[in-house]
Amino acid sequence: MSVTSVVGLQWGDEAKGKIVDLLTDEHQVVVRYQGGNNAGHTVKFGGETYKLSLLPTGILRPGVVSVIANGCVVHPGALLKEMRGLTDRGIDLTGRLLVSDRAHVIFPWHIAEEAVLESSRKQDAIGTTMRGIGTCYRDKAGRTHAIRVGDLYHEDLLRQRVEDVAAQKIAVIRAVDPSAAALDPAAIFEEYRAYAAAIKPCVVDSTAWLHKKLREGSNVLFEGAQGSLLDVDHGTFPFVTSSNSSAAGIHTGSGVPERVIDRMIGVVKAYTTRVGGGPFVTELHDEIGQHIRDTGNEYGTVTGRPRRCGWFDAVATGYGARVCGVDCIAVMLLDVLAQLDELSVCEAYEIRGERTTDFPSHVADLQAAKPVFRKLPGWKQDITGARKLGDLPAGARKYVDTVSELLDRPVAYISVGPDREQTILV
Ligand code: IMP
Repeated sequence: MSVTSVVGLQWGDEAKGKIVDLLTDEHQVVVRYQGGNNAGHTVKFGGETYKLSLLPTGILRPGVVSVIANGCVVHPGALLKEMRGLTDRGIDLTGRLLVSDRAHVIFPWHIAEEAVLESSRKQDAIGTTMRGIGTCYRDKAGRTHAIRVGDLYHEDLLRQRVEDVAAQKIAVIRAVDPSAAALDPAAIFEEYRAYAAAIKPCVVDSTAWLHKKLREGSNVLFEGAQGSLLDVDHGTFPFVTSSNSSAAGIHTGSGVPERVIDRMIGVVKAYTTRVGGGPFVTELHDEIGQHIRDTGNEYGTVTGRPRRCGWFDAVATGYGARVCGVDCIAVMLLDVLAQLDELSVCEAYEIRGERTTDFPSHVADLQAAKPVFRKLPGWKQDITGARKLGDLPAGARKYVDTVSELLDRPVAYISVGPDREQTILV
């Protein structure tokens, strides 16, 4: 039995989907343990491009069972739409997708509430994906307004809950925005009753199911969404998502203890990106930032927003690696850095005159932090055809070695292009 975890060490979009896809052949089960349809994974497979959001990447592999575990938040309408998108392209999902009955359900009031809350923060907006993720997690922690997947199958309870919660939510929403549209509890109940019937074949106690699979010796892969610096506890709060998107979420989000994991892979981009608001010490506002955005096609999979781009930040990423306890690193999108004369890697911060390699816990300190850069020579060769370390030019080798040194972890994978084959296994 082998249990692997793939987790992002930056602010998401590290191209985790490609590493998960690469490893899926060796695993029979792929598990998402946090987040919802705020995530975006682009996977190129069999000459086709697939954009996944709530569905685990394993869904593209015949023979692999994908699990949306208890730590996720599920909009059943969005889930069904994504499932239909795949079945329409000839992918058979029968018996290959499971949804935890403990996962929490996203309702229309979560999306409406998020819209008014985000706009009330004005210039300090978090820049969320507007999918009702944070408001659903808030109700999970608050309990009074929460509805789980399992509750969808208790009709009388569901009808009553929808009526009660909708009435309270509209009062809260209208307190902030009196012009907010009404919520119709009867229509919402009917809509969710239909969703419940449609997803019923997928709904299980995923914790019990996973433990059974582990006992039987199945290889299981945990697929992180977003990244460690967006973790609600360990990230750049409040500019974070509302789940534990570092490896910390695996145990709570799946019911599987972390000690069964024998390989923890931390995925990093060769540079840094972030979508939405929040501090970003190595951000580039110049033509190099634009060059990285254009070359790396750094536009959000879910929202289409241009991503903010900057140099690799070993202080932030090293912190992510320590929080997750990763064994090794996958360096993605290295090819994007070709053609630049000189590269910079941030090896420390200077905060009000003090040099540190610790990642500050407060955004005010992050906003005050100045990057201390190590300069490295660039390389001009196209590396998209490289398949082994020896194929890389000296500049690219040096760059990867520097990332490894600063993160104090070996580099196990280097990605030099979007396709599966464009990967160096170190
Ligand atoms: P939320 O997850 O929609 O609440 O958004 C909170 C923050 O997380 C925002 O800055 C989003 O842009 C960011 N975020 C959420 N999901 C992703 C993702 O999959 N990749 C990158 N950033 C994300």
